Amino acid sequence: METDQRHPFLKGLSKHRGARPAIVVIFGASGDLMRRKLLPAICNLGTDNLLPTDFHVIGYARSRMSDDAFRASMSESVEAFSRRSVPGEIWDRVAARLHYQAGSYDGEEDFAALSRRIESIEQEAGRAMQLLFYISTPPTVFASILENLGRCGLSRRTGAMASRVIIEKPFGSDLESARELNQVIGRHFEENQVYRIDHYLGKETVQNLLVQRFANAIFEPIWNRQYVECIQITVAEDLGVAGRGGYYDKSGALRDMVQNHTMQLLALTAMEPPVSLDPESIRDEKVKVLRAIQPLSLAPEGGDVVRGQYAEGLISGKRVPSYRKEEDTPVNSTTETYAAMRLLINNWRWQGVPFYVRSGKRMPRRLSEIVIQFKRPPGVLFTESGRFDVAPNTLVVQVQPDEGITVLNNAKIPGLETRTQPVKMHFHYATTFGSNTPEAYERLILDAMIGDSTLFIRGDETEASWGLMSPVLDAWNQLGERGLETYAAGSWGPLAADRMLWEHGHQWRRPGP
Ligand code: BG6
Repeated sequence: METDQRHPFLKGLSKHRGARPAIVVIFGASGDLMRRKLLPAICNLGTDNLLPTDFHVIGYARSRMSDDAFRASMSESVEAFSRRSVPGEIWDRVAARLHYQAGSYDGEEDFAALSRRIESIEQEAGRAMQLLFYISTPPTVFASILENLGRCGLSRRTGAMASRVIIEKPFGSDLESARELNQVIGRHFEENQVYRIDHYLGKETVQNLLVQRFANAIFEPIWNRQYVECIQITVAEDLGVAGRGGYYDKSGALRDMVQNHTMQLLALTAMEPPVSLDPESIRDEKVKVLRAIQPLSLAPEGGDVVRGQYAEGLISGKRVPSYRKEEDTPVNSTTETYAAMRLLINNWRWQGVPFYVRSGKRMPRRLSEIVIQFKRPPGVLFTESGRFDVAPNTLVVQVQPDEGITVLNNAKIPGLETRTQPVKMHFHYATTFGSNTPEAYERLILDAMIGDSTLFIRGDETEASWGLMSPVLDAWNQLGERGLETYAAGSWGPLAADRMLWEHGHQWRRPGP
């Protein structure tokens, strides 16, 4: 008897039993995210045999295009941007289920046409499918898409083949707009149908934070104000605005990175153990931490916030222009490309321990890390300077690149006299597990398909985070250029951010070259 040698996905067998038949509608299908991340992620899920047997993608955007033209352009994107090459047979199967629907975001009749298209796919397949609406458009049309999904009934499917909505960032531009958006969502979807994306939560190292903290007995007893001196979170990029000056100038570092990605890293680092691993228990703990953060002091001297904008400088030996000379940025822009803050969490575990966070563009290199700096041991033994170089113990979670965890401790230098030196213990992902890690979007799309919202942001979380950041934005708005620091591209940010730590007896960890 002949055996079927084809890839399991081609035989219609999915390894992932939880993923029910699905139609994923992607609004903003002509955009960058679709080309660079979403479709490559879908193809990689196909390669790993993780897509449901009945699976369709409808790309939705304003420009007119045939299905074939759409497929051809997506094929090029997958080739250019997929983390590994997608086997031809997998691409053929995905492409055969890839459709294009042209339409506006505010026209009800266009959504009725979308609804008919969905019905015809379901009819052809002979079954109903779950509907995933992925909103990856500019935020100006988020609300009209949500309203239209509601009006034409597409938001109202429940049960096994429920409809869900995935919303890309930015989720609001301040507390008020985030609240309004949550209200629009709430008119048409239940919270358990809503998946707000923060792609940092899809990163392996970020998910590993919970495992490190709560699957080991040695960290949790010292993860508190008794033992921790301070915590530092850095999310640095060497890139400038990379052709997105128009968007970035209206956003800035605080909206683009700090309010979402950095605050999520902070919440996972600081939260209490959840009662279980279900999504609500984890998100309950995150929101509690965000709510316990003290309002920031915005005093010009000795305050908790620093903002900066990059001037011309050198990145990897190459001269790069100042932010104001980037394409599409105004010559007198006051948008911050760097923000740093000192946050205090008023709860039993963390009272008095500063959390320093910073994020910036055009820093010396791409680096995201979480540093737990422990208190010094009592200065009784090993105190003679010159002989004993004793550093405070530090645990560094390297989020990216070169993912891993490093513990800095003090050791005796081999020899006939007792001298000490700080040494490092490393866990390096690529060495232990190899380097073929799935991209964040693979995990997030799969989770949304199986209905697991753990790695997505709940409405109250986003409002809690905006509640902290909105007053900062208002103050900056009032100040204009006053208080806006500059830093040379290729440096670790403005001096004022160093000063903010010095004032409290701390300093930023200087990552190696
Ligand atoms: C996005 C920001 O959310 O994250 C970008 O809009 C930024 O400005 C990007 O470059 C960084 O993501 P990653 O995964 O490369 O760290």
